[in-house]
Amino acid sequence: MATIGLIAGSGMQGWHEQSIEQQPIDTPYGPPSAAIERFELNQVTVHQVARHGQPHTVPPHRVNYRANIWALKELGCEAIVAVNTVGGINANMGPGTLLVPDQIIDLTWGRAQSFWDSADDEPRHVDFTEPYDAALRQQLLHAAEHESLAMHDGGVYLATQGPRLETAAEIRHYRTMQADVVGMTGMPEAALARELGIPFAVIGVVVNWAAGLAGPTLDFIEIEQQQKTCIRQVARVIWRLTNELTKIVTYQQ
Ligand code: HPA
Repeated sequence: MATIGLIAGSGMQGWHEQSIEQQPIDTPYGPPSAAIERFELNQVTVHQVARHGQPHTVPPHRVNYRANIWALKELGCEAIVAVNTVGGINANMGPGTLLVPDQIIDLTWGRAQSFWDSADDEPRHVDFTEPYDAALRQQLLHAAEHESLAMHDGGVYLATQGPRLETAAEIRHYRTMQADVVGMTGMPEAALARELGIPFAVIGVVVNWAAGLAGPTLDFIEIEQQQKTCIRQVARVIWRLTNELTKIVTYQQ
């Protein structure tokens, strides 16, 4: 039976109706954002961590990314899917777009970026040319296709520190950097998964136009509504992914 990790983003509380086993777990890096929830979906074991805690109290710059990834590895996850809400910069990636990004620009700072940062460790470097797992990305895209949901193949995810949103000038600058979407949680999550050798991919959920691209300010009520609509689609993609994993598991050990 395949075992996957799911990092649930904003708005995903109660997205499925499976019965859940709560697994309190500690790690050498402290506790994860919340107890890890275990449930079965289409005969796949899913270990889910709510990135922002349960209830939602942990802001992006305070998430214990190392503990979350470590805990999922400890629980035997063979792959991790993360769901991240983002703002759209690319004119083709407006609110309501789902995407599977293929690249990252990291502008976060002050977060624990590595499992190997003790003074006693030998410096170690992982290859991060392609930050996401190609096979897992394809499986997410197939899952969306089989659900007849549009999902963009690729895109540059630019990670900001937050928790504030960006200025209009920052977004204009990020556009010149070829960023397609902007979010606060994509890093160091992806790099930490790579350090532990776990295939990792993201479902990006565009919930607003990035700052300055539509109107003078961001409308948080609209963002919340958009998030709700999108998460229903994300749920279908994850359901289909697990349904098909039992048939086409390319990364299973
Ligand atoms: N910027 C940064 N993070 C986000 C945004 C945004 O516009 N929307 C959702 N997460």
